[in-house]
Amino acid sequence: MSNIGSYLERQASFDWSVAREALGWKEGELLNIGHICSDRVCASGRADKEALLWEGFGGKKAVHTFDDLRARSNAFARLLVDEGLTPGDRVCLFMDKIPSLYFAFLGILKMGGIAQPLFSAFGDESLKVRLESAGTRAILTTGKHVKKVRKIRGDLPALEKVIVVEGDPAKLKEGEEFFDVEAADRVEEFPYFDGGPEAPSVLHYTSGTTGQPKGAQHVHSSVWGQALTTSWVLDLTDDDVYWCTADPGWVTGTSYGIIGPWALGATQCVLDAGFTSARWYRFIQDHRVTVWYSAPTAIRSLMRDGADLVRKHDLSSLRHLASVGEPLNAEAVVWSEEVFGMPFHDTFWQTETGAMMIANWPGMKIKPGSMGRPFPGITAAILDLKTNDPVTTPGQVGLIAFRPGWPSMFRAYRNQPDVYRSKFVGAPDGASPEELRTNPDIWYVSGDRASVDADGYYWFVGRDDDVINTGGHLVGPFEIESALIEHEAVAEAAAVGKPDQMNMEVVKAFVTLHAGYTPSDELELDIMNFIRKKLSPLAMPQEIEYSDKLPKTRSGKLLRRYLRALEWGEEAGDLSTLEDD
Ligand code: WT7
Repeated sequence: MSNIGSYLERQASFDWSVAREALGWKEGELLNIGHICSDRVCASGRADKEALLWEGFGGKKAVHTFDDLRARSNAFARLLVDEGLTPGDRVCLFMDKIPSLYFAFLGILKMGGIAQPLFSAFGDESLKVRLESAGTRAILTTGKHVKKVRKIRGDLPALEKVIVVEGDPAKLKEGEEFFDVEAADRVEEFPYFDGGPEAPSVLHYTSGTTGQPKGAQHVHSSVWGQALTTSWVLDLTDDDVYWCTADPGWVTGTSYGIIGPWALGATQCVLDAGFTSARWYRFIQDHRVTVWYSAPTAIRSLMRDGADLVRKHDLSSLRHLASVGEPLNAEAVVWSEEVFGMPFHDTFWQTETGAMMIANWPGMKIKPGSMGRPFPGITAAILDLKTNDPVTTPGQVGLIAFRPGWPSMFRAYRNQPDVYRSKFVGAPDGASPEELRTNPDIWYVSGDRASVDADGYYWFVGRDDDVINTGGHLVGPFEIESALIEHEAVAEAAAVGKPDQMNMEVVKAFVTLHAGYTPSDELELDIMNFIRKKLSPLAMPQEIEYSDKLPKTRSGKLLRRYLRALEWGEEAGDLSTLEDD
């Protein structure tokens, strides 16, 4: 019997208090994610249970119990308080998936700080934009990544503390501190911050079409939704060994790579080493992984490497598989049934939703290629593209929308109340953020297009904006274009997604050059590297096309849609009509 039981019964009697009960959390108890994910598990008699089974490059291994998680995260909380940080301060985590990342994440939350995890492969410009926007006061990083911080520190007056948590202390520069949590004393007691359900917890940056990335602010009560979806969709039980392959720089890596599973006291595995299919299978085999949450890009790579490789490993421990981030091809579902003996269960959600919204769960009939049905307690609809009214015809394409009010919903885009408001339809003018997140008569609009069939299954169509989804990671065209025009040769730039077998989309850039520069392969390579270093390998264009002129509307807005359609071999439409936009 799976944790979700009967969907129809769950759906009929649903109330979010179920989520609190699933977690065993009672009104009046301390509501702090750091505490819930460690101390509470210890208090339930599981202090010596393995919390983290970790492997890094070069065969490095570590095992940490829930008691370690508790005492080490306390040590980070203590450090931050001693450094003068106070509740509400943004503390950035900028490191690989090393154990300290996990301890520090919980430690920041324990002292009331806002954890701001950023992908360690970000270059200095991507980092700067996000630290600036967040007004980040402290950054925790490692010897490997601190150089990027040094490059931009002078531009970030709010950034008071740079703390290096791994590496050679002798290599530190002035104004930097060193803290090795495993060499430091364990901290047994700490006065945990208790700010109630609405206290801010995690800040994740996500890309949109216009402007630089936006900071989606989450709160401590998100744990209710994250824990319940972990239980019902990922089906975790006390005996499971769970592996979420995502990096905590992205929301999957925190909601389902830290918070949900540890709130339930599950054992998690982390592999901090690059991807190869063989390495991944060996990891599953060695740790006897039972539940595995991954992404279509990875699954497509596994498919490419074939069924024989699967058979060379003992993967008999696996019992449940799930996927998120991009459309999960029907072929991938069928393939996984063939080779693993079970399907990948697709789940749909976003940084903003904080937890799964539409999903396939154990026991549910899977229609390969569909994202599944709304989670109990989630009211979803497809809104008509013109009227914004829910469509009533099965198969009609429109915008995926949700009624507000689920616990893990984002509470703001940091410092951008108008952009936050623009994500809702039907709200009265001047509605407060509080109203936007509670009004049951309005819709939160996801920005994705889909249809729903007569059985209530959702089918993804595509994004409704120009954001590029490369291997499950969103990159914003504006961020890439802004970086491109900082290259000395580039006058104007447009970035769009072009089709890619493995990553679904990769970035392609169209550029016009300043007078005096001529197109060449060398210049193309130089521009690519410039973006890789400044932003990240994900944002780096895989192709650059030189152009004399970029298509624009009469008001001067870039017509990315037109360029994108050309790349995808779709009907681009008549440029002259597009120009009227
Ligand atoms: C966007 C959100 C939420 C975890 C990781 C991504 C796309 C997500 C699916 C899916 C098709 C999907 C959407 C969405 N997406 N899951 N199952 N099928 N597309 O979080 O970075 O905020 O990206 O990823 O376009 O809006 P994110």
